[in-house]
Amino acid sequence: MATNAQALPLRHYLQFTDLTADEYAHLFKRAAFIKAKFKAYEKYQPLTDRTLAMIFEKASTRTRVSFEAGMYQLGGSVVHLTTGDSQLGRAEPIEDSARVISRMVDLVMIRTYGQDKIENFAAHSRVPVINGLTNEFHPCQILADIFTYIEHRGSIQGKTVAWVGDGNNMANTWLQAADLLGFKVNLSTPSGYEVDPSVVGVRSAASTQFFKDPMQACEGADLVTTDVWTSMGYEAENEARKKAFADWCVDEDMMKIAKPDALFMHCLPAHRGEEVSAEVIDGPQSVVWDEAENRMHAQKALMEFLLLGQI
Ligand code: CP
Ligand code: NVA
Repeated sequence: MATNAQALPLRHYLQFTDLTADEYAHLFKRAAFIKAKFKAYEKYQPLTDRTLAMIFEKASTRTRVSFEAGMYQLGGSVVHLTTGDSQLGRAEPIEDSARVISRMVDLVMIRTYGQDKIENFAAHSRVPVINGLTNEFHPCQILADIFTYIEHRGSIQGKTVAWVGDGNNMANTWLQAADLLGFKVNLSTPSGYEVDPSVVGVRSAASTQFFKDPMQACEGADLVTTDVWTSMGYEAENEARKKAFADWCVDEDMMKIAKPDALFMHCLPAHRGEEVSAEVIDGPQSVVWDEAENRMHAQKALMEFLLLGQI
């Protein structure tokens, strides 16, 4: 039953700001419910006969597995496309691809380069489109990260997240989330790698503090998080980045200056000895494996919400 008939108003998930705080509260509850079913080996299949198309223009492990396994578990099926094995790689216009693909499936997930591409696809799609990572944003990851924080420590409201590293898609999305959900981000990026305020959008100044010194950003933090020094698509800058980011490695000293019960998160893949030390990522404060698993549970809640609304 790939109906395409949207009984609900069409909603996309292209940036963290596409949902309200109340809708996030609903998603976190649903993710916990769906996860509990999964852990109890109980079937939960509200998306029987629905189809998800996944379009990957960049590499992936977690996003591919979590969406594909998640959709099957919800009773649906998945079509996997890449630039190399579809007409996307032979310059078929995005608008035409969106019109065609969205006539045949119920939901589309895209991992691509510029945010403008996914926005353009969504503008011509009949079905909800989910951002599976762009150069600018990674909302599904922050959805899972906050769900993970809540599981371990309760509400994130009023808490402080220390971001140590690149002003990249993850940093941008943390900033959007802080403003929406009422927590703070202490941001420390090397000079020249700051976030671009025009990408993040209009926000209250109160939710972000900028620090030159990554140690200071970690002081008193409830959660310390980082990401690779070189994101996909920026490989040509690798050598310059290695020099610029040398002091932005989350190590045990940074974790010591954070709150004693601070958590460490990393969206993965990680480079031990670069953005994080092995002692930290493999240490007792690290919740990176829960975080990775929670991509699946959180995205199942998201897919349920986009296709069925708040059930
Ligand atoms: N964190 C994340 O999105 O991982 P993948 O690149 O493996 O999908
Ligand atoms: N910032 C990284 C995240 C990978 C999941 C990238 O865009 O490559």
